[in-house]
Amino acid sequence: MGDAGHQIIAVADAAEMAATAAQRIIARIDANDGRIAICLSGGSSPKQLYRLLASEAYRRLLPWHRIHWFVGDERFVPVNSDLSNMGVARRMLLDSRAPASHIHPVPTDGANPDAGAERYARELQSFYGADELRHGRPLFDLVLLGAGTDGHTASLFPGDPALDERERWVVGVPKADLEPFVPRVTLTLPALGACHEMLFEVAGSDKRAILTRLLNGENLPANRARSGEGTTVWLVDRAALPEGFRSS
Ligand code: 6PG
Repeated sequence: MGDAGHQIIAVADAAEMAATAAQRIIARIDANDGRIAICLSGGSSPKQLYRLLASEAYRRLLPWHRIHWFVGDERFVPVNSDLSNMGVARRMLLDSRAPASHIHPVPTDGANPDAGAERYARELQSFYGADELRHGRPLFDLVLLGAGTDGHTASLFPGDPALDERERWVVGVPKADLEPFVPRVTLTLPALGACHEMLFEVAGSDKRAILTRLLNGENLPANRARSGEGTTVWLVDRAALPEGFRSS
């Protein structure tokens, strides 16, 4: 992180982070007058953004009939569980606005995460119209991500062989290294990177230590995730920024 192709934007707090993220999403949407694909993240960081996009002011700015919504990773739990990433996005933002056919949850009703991963990969490939990602034809307009205190992103945890996956678009993760300790399904780095913009939201003083390691270029999942087609932007709030850091 911090090298060419990575932009770090320092924001004052979670409110400014949500507003900046919303503006970047709208800029991406305005840059594409066709079908749009947004890949959402899990965890707590996107919740303020969901609330903002659900507000009267922003709701009218979004061309809901043109936007398809995916998630970068999912906890292998029922969609009505509080732990469900798409469940949170649906309850806070999508259900009363996006056409049901435009909401693409990870199937978590199957036998195991691998089965869910295979079905989601097929759904992404059918949406994309091919089963191989092509340089110059991104799958997503924007991919939203967070970073865990261990440096994981989506459900790609440090040391996990899934980090080196080059063929499969989605994999099952039987064991999570951090709370919630439930099995996961996650997109792989090639699929996450097939985007015009990769947008990280990192907030809170509990992220300062890992951010220092990421800024020092440590080989951690969140540092390996980057847009292969466009820009990778890190929105970082003041509480998470290491002392004396200057944003680029
Ligand atoms: C998940 C997420 C995960 C999250 C980070 C940051 O399913 O848990 O996708 O990758 O983005 O753990 O989480 P917070 O935003 O809650 O700090």
